[in-house]
Amino acid sequence: VVLRTGSAGQTRELGAALAGVLLPGDVVLVAGELGAGKTTLVQGVGSGLGVADAVTSPTFTLVRPYRCDPARRRPVTASLDGASPVRVMLHADLYRLDRLGEVADLALAELVEESAVALVEWGDVAEPLFGRDTLEIRLDMGRTEDQRRVTIMTAGSWEPRRAALVTAVRTWVDEGSEDDR
Ligand SMILES: Nc1ncnc2c1ncn2[C@@H]1O[C@H](COP(=O)(O)OP(=O)(O)OP(=O)(O)O)[C@@H](O)[C@H]1O
Ligand SMILES: [Mg+2]
Repeated sequence: VVLRTGSAGQTRELGAALAGVLLPGDVVLVAGELGAGKTTLVQGVGSGLGVADAVTSPTFTLVRPYRCDPARRRPVTASLDGASPVRVMLHADLYRLDRLGEVADLALAELVEESAVALVEWGDVAEPLFGRDTLEIRLDMGRTEDQRRVTIMTAGSWEPRRAALVTAVRTWVDEGSEDDR
């Protein structure tokens, strides 16, 4: 799915919409160059999941847990109604990790217990550690300073949720042609 946002606020809204299709145990890899909007997107996911605390860049802490308040949560996508709620959002940033070994030590996948989801900035470098069931989101700079192209890649266990995902993000679908990028 290829999307386009025109401001940081729209990227936050997109993140909040994505929260509606996340289930406990999900790992979301967020890729894109410096300043592409990875943290901005994760902030939106946090607001959609009902995180009350301010979500900031976890660069110096590696992984930061945020408690989700069900009362603050955006309604989940209808087709996922009845799914157990996400109680914790883990926000990680692997930028400063040079060696995959350090990532393995984090055992991030194991941190994702029944009630948590993990959002991993620069997670693409650690893709082999997380297996095939991740949701991968790539942010790229657009033609103007405030435009971003957002590519969402589903694989493995995401296939059954793909339709719900597309519905959740349809506001931002990029209908431009290939050479309009
Ligand atoms: N459409 C947009 N989506 C997201 N951010 C945008 C957009 N337009 C402008 N911005 C700005 O780009 C910056 C994105 O910063 P952010 O910290 O989210 O990026 P990042 O990818 O997490 O960077 P880093 O690699 O340092 O972690 C913010 O200053 C934000 O206001
Ligand atoms: Mg960041």
